[in-house]
Amino acid sequence: MRIETSVTRLLGIDLPIVQAGMSWASSDSALPLAVSRAGGLGVIAAGPMRLADLEHAIDEVRSTTDRPYAVNLPLYRKGGADEVLDLIERKRVPVLIASQGGPQRYLARLHAIGTVCLHVVASEEHARKAADAGVDGLVVVGGEAGGHPPASLVSTLVIVRAVASAVDTPIIASGGFADGAGLAAALALGAGAAQFGTRFLASVEANVHPAYKEAVLQARVADTRTVGRELGMIRALTNEFTTRMAKLEDDGATHADREAEFTRATLKAAALHGDVEGGKVEAGQTAGLIGATLPAAEIVGQLAREYVDTLGRLPHPS
Ligand SMILES: Cc1cc2nc3c(=O)[nH]c(=O)nc-3n(C[C@H](O)[C@H](O)[C@H](O)COP(=O)(O)O)c2cc1C
Repeated sequence: MRIETSVTRLLGIDLPIVQAGMSWASSDSALPLAVSRAGGLGVIAAGPMRLADLEHAIDEVRSTTDRPYAVNLPLYRKGGADEVLDLIERKRVPVLIASQGGPQRYLARLHAIGTVCLHVVASEEHARKAADAGVDGLVVVGGEAGGHPPASLVSTLVIVRAVASAVDTPIIASGGFADGAGLAAALALGAGAAQFGTRFLASVEANVHPAYKEAVLQARVADTRTVGRELGMIRALTNEFTTRMAKLEDDGATHADREAEFTRATLKAAALHGDVEGGKVEAGQTAGLIGATLPAAEIVGQLAREYVDTLGRLPHPS
C-alpha cells in the first residue's frame, strides 16, 4: 500500500509513518530496519550510542535494505555531536532528524551530500527559525509525547495547527499518535506524516527490557506525568521515581535537590535493566491506547489499514 503525502515524497517512503528516534529503544538496527523495510521511516537514536556502535547499526541497515532510514541526533549529545555529523556525512545517511540546538550546525554540509534534514521543534517560533534556516521538514512535538515534551505542554492538536499555519515546510506531527485514526488526524491537521514513539516501544524489536514493554501495556491514559521542570523535563510512566520527584517539586525543594533526584534515576536503568520503579520509564499518554506488543512491521501494516478504515468511517457532507 502507498499513501502519498508531502513527507513521503520528500523522504521517498511508501507510508506517512515515522518511527520516533528513542534512546536505547531504537539505538540499534533492529527497530529502524523493521520499520523502513515495512514502508515507513525507521530512525536510529544516536543519543546514547558509542560512535562504533552507531557505525555498526548504520552498516547493518544499509546492507539489509535499500529503503531510506534516518539517524536522530540530539545536538546536545554527550561525547560530541560533531563526530556523529562526520559519520553521517561519511556514510551518506539519507535522513537526519536533529533535536535541540540550531540547524546551522549541520545544514550546509549535509545538504551538500543530499541528506534530507529534518529538525525537531515544539513552538511556532522555533519552527519559523528552522524553516527560515532552510531545513527540509519539521518534526512538531506536542505535550502528549513521551520523552521530552515541550515545556509549555501545548497539545499536539494545537501546536501542529499553529505550525502548519506559520510555515510552508513539510511537517511530521509527533506526540499522542498510536493508531490509524491518529494518523488520519495528523494528516487532517496539515501534517504530511505522523511520528510514533510509544507505539513502537511495545514492539518486538524495541531494544528495551520486557518489564518496560509490560509497564507500557499495563498503563492507562492518565498513568504518565511530567517531571523535571527546568532540568530537561520528561514525560514518563508514573512510578516510585516520578512520585518522589513530583513531591520534591510540589514541596518547593531546591534546584540542587531536585537535580540530584532527577539525575539519579535514568532511562538506561529502566530500558536496559528493567528498573521500572526507580528508573525513568519514558512514555507518552498513548501508553493507555496500546494493548499488545507486536512485530514492528505488523504495527506499520495495522496503522495503514486502520487509516483506510478511519477514512471510510468519516461522515461525508450531504
Ligand atoms: C523512551 C523514549 C526515548 C526517547 N528518546 C528520544 C531521543 O533520543 N531523541 C529525540 O529526539 N526524542 C526522543 N524521544 C521522543 C520521541 O522521539 C517522540 O517525540 C515521542 O515519543 C512522540 O510521542 P509518543 O510517544 O506519544 O508517540 C523519546 C521518547 C521515548 C518514549
